[in-house]
Amino acid sequence: MTPFARNQWYVAAYGSEVGRELLARTVLGEPIALYRTEDSDTVVALADRCVHRRFPLSESRLDGDRVVCGYHGFTYDTTGTCVQVPGQKRVPRTARVSSYPTVEQDSFVWIWIGDPALADPLTIPRAEHLVRPGWTTVRGMEPIDADYGLLVDNLLDLSHETYLHGGYIGTPEVAETHITTEVDEAAGVVRVGRHMDDAECPPFYARSTGIEGRISRKQDIEYHAPCLYLLHSRITPVGQDSPAFLTEITYAITPSAEGKVYDFWAVSRDFAVDDAELSSFLRDFNHTVVMQDVDALNLLQTALDAEPGPYQELSINIDTGGLAARRILARLADR
Ligand code: FES
Ligand SMILES: [Fe+2]
Repeated sequence: MTPFARNQWYVAAYGSEVGRELLARTVLGEPIALYRTEDSDTVVALADRCVHRRFPLSESRLDGDRVVCGYHGFTYDTTGTCVQVPGQKRVPRTARVSSYPTVEQDSFVWIWIGDPALADPLTIPRAEHLVRPGWTTVRGMEPIDADYGLLVDNLLDLSHETYLHGGYIGTPEVAETHITTEVDEAAGVVRVGRHMDDAECPPFYARSTGIEGRISRKQDIEYHAPCLYLLHSRITPVGQDSPAFLTEITYAITPSAEGKVYDFWAVSRDFAVDDAELSSFLRDFNHTVVMQDVDALNLLQTALDAEPGPYQELSINIDTGGLAARRILARLADR
C-alpha cells in the first residue's frame, strides 16, 4: 500500500458541493463532516464523530454555524468545541472534536489532516484555469476502491490511453511516442511530456475542435505530489501552428482510506465556451473515459489483494514518471 503523507493539502470536495447541508467525506482515513458558515465565507471541516457516542455529525443538523448532533444534541461550534450538552449546564472540558484547516481555492476545498501548525496555504498548488475568466470546465468525482498509488501510476503513464481508452482518447501514436521525464525532487513535482507530430485525431478532440484529419498532439503532465495532477493538452492540425486548441485536464487524487481514493476530474477549455452541447458531450465522454480507469483500477486492486505476499513488478521506460512519483510520495510520507 502507498503510505499516506499527512502533512499535505488534499482536495476534500468541490466548493460547489459544500453548502448548508452537511457533507461526509473520508480523507486519509479520517471521517470528516463539511459545511459552509451562514455568511458563506468559510468551509468548516469537523471530525465526523460525536464525542458522546460517536454518532456521525454529517447525519446531524446545523443551527446557524453550529452542528447539533442528531442523536442526543451535543452542540459544536466551528472550532469543534462542544458548547452545549443536554440535561446539564456544565459542558465537560474534553468535549471537542477535531477541526481541520481548509482553504477554498480554484474551485476546490483543500483540507489539511496533519499537524495544523504546519498548514501553510501558500504551499497549495494552483489550478487557476478552473476559475479563469474566458474558460469553462466540466467536472465530476468518482470514488475508486484502489490504493491511491495505483491512480497516480495510471495518470503518470498515458500510454495506457492506446489500450484502455482506444477509440475514445487513445490512438496508436500515444503508446508509440517516447516520453520525456523531469523530476524536481525538492518541489515534489514530476513532469512527463509526450509530443506527437503526426497523429490520428481521437473522437474526444475531433468533436471538440472540429479538426478533420491528422493532428499534432502535445501532452504535458505536471504532477504536484501528492494531490494535484495537471495535463496540458495542445492540439493543432498536423504541420500547422494554428488554430491551436488548449485543453487543461485536471485531477485531484485524494486518498480516502486504505485501498480507497477519490478521483476528482475536470476538463477545461478556452474555446467554444458557450457551446452547451459541446460541454455536455465532453462531460459524458470524459466520464466514460474516467469510468474505464475506475473499472480497471478496481479490477487491478482485486487482483493484487488476491495475491499473498509482496509481488514482483517489471518496469520499463514508460514507468519513469510513475516511479519518480512513488519515490516522492514515500519521502513525503516519511516526514
Ligand atoms: S452521540 Fe452525539 S449526542 Fe449522543
Ligand atoms: Fe486513463
